[in-house]
Amino acid sequence: MRDFAGRTAFVTGGANGVGIGIVRTLLNEGCKVAIADIRQDAIDQALASLDNREVMGIQLDVASRGDFARAAEEVEAKFGPVSIVVNNAGVNLFQTIEESSYDDWDWLLGVNLHGVINGVQTFVPRMVERVKTGEQVGGHVINTASMAGFLSSGSPGIYNTTKAAVRALSESLRYSLLQYGIGVSVLSPGLVKSVIYASDDLRPDRLKGTMKPVDPAATLRLQGLHEHGMEPDVIGARVIEAVKANRLYIFSHPDHKEELREVFDYILGHYQDYPKDPGFDSRVAFEKFRADAGREARHKSLAAE
Ligand SMILES: NC(=O)c1ccc[n+]([C@@H]2O[C@H](COP(=O)([O-])OP(=O)(O)OC[C@H]3O[C@@H](n4cnc5c(N)ncnc54)[C@H](O)[C@@H]3O)[C@@H](O)[C@H]2O)c1
Repeated sequence: MRDFAGRTAFVTGGANGVGIGIVRTLLNEGCKVAIADIRQDAIDQALASLDNREVMGIQLDVASRGDFARAAEEVEAKFGPVSIVVNNAGVNLFQTIEESSYDDWDWLLGVNLHGVINGVQTFVPRMVERVKTGEQVGGHVINTASMAGFLSSGSPGIYNTTKAAVRALSESLRYSLLQYGIGVSVLSPGLVKSVIYASDDLRPDRLKGTMKPVDPAATLRLQGLHEHGMEPDVIGARVIEAVKANRLYIFSHPDHKEELREVFDYILGHYQDYPKDPGFDSRVAFEKFRADAGREARHKSLAAE
């Protein structure tokens, strides 16, 4: 998608960090932008900093399907059909899986995974329908995952799980939406200058029952770390460039390429040279159809770039 001017974009988590960087870049491209975020004060600050009439704020919790439905109606009534969806809102919980509770899982999966699912379920059917009727040409869905979706460490375990899921969701959606000319990209940043270290502030009361107490010293350390992160505007520019090129994977940070290669080799290194079992030949013949279809989907996806 190269024609951004005049389109309406919906950016979740748009009031801070990665989101505000994408918002600013989209506005520079001539889009009308809805900043959708749970923090009303941050929305107000963002709007005050943007000298542009084509931007609106909308408070929502991405984990809520009802909030999404309401937000979509409000934004489309004011700015017209949304054809760029940026599912970016996310929170982190810097702890291992064995020290986590069901509340921890529900919170992180609710925001990081269901938030993306809700954005897709709300907007994609509308986009597809408009493409089918000729009201809309093209469109793009950008989902923010993380390098954590590729490079898992022990902590943060739940976060890594959500980001790997967002990556898989985005890959599948990419292949199924190709036929409509709607692009899908998964953004996988490394460290960003953002306020994600303060995620605990956003945790709903109903999911606080079994949480570990927040350690203010650890939060302070994380704040210091994120100071060294990439500037949101640099990421925003790289995202738009990648969307124009219709790239599936957006690796904003050049920092991890060799590590990623090591991880892929490490995974392949787990294959064993087992002797053929009795079902091998018929199974492989069947699997060939699936593998060929996957190869063709990747080929078409690359050809669309
Ligand atoms: N900060 C990093 O180093 C880093 C690295 C890789 C990926 N990411 C991902 O980038 C995305 C943006 O994070 P960021 O680092 O810019 O963090 P951030 O905290 O600066 O911005 C996230 C925004 O999302 C909003 N938000 C949080 N929960 C929400 C909810 N339930 N509903 C609506 N809005 C909500 C917050 O209010 C905030 O404005 C996240 O998906 C995060 O996982 C961040």
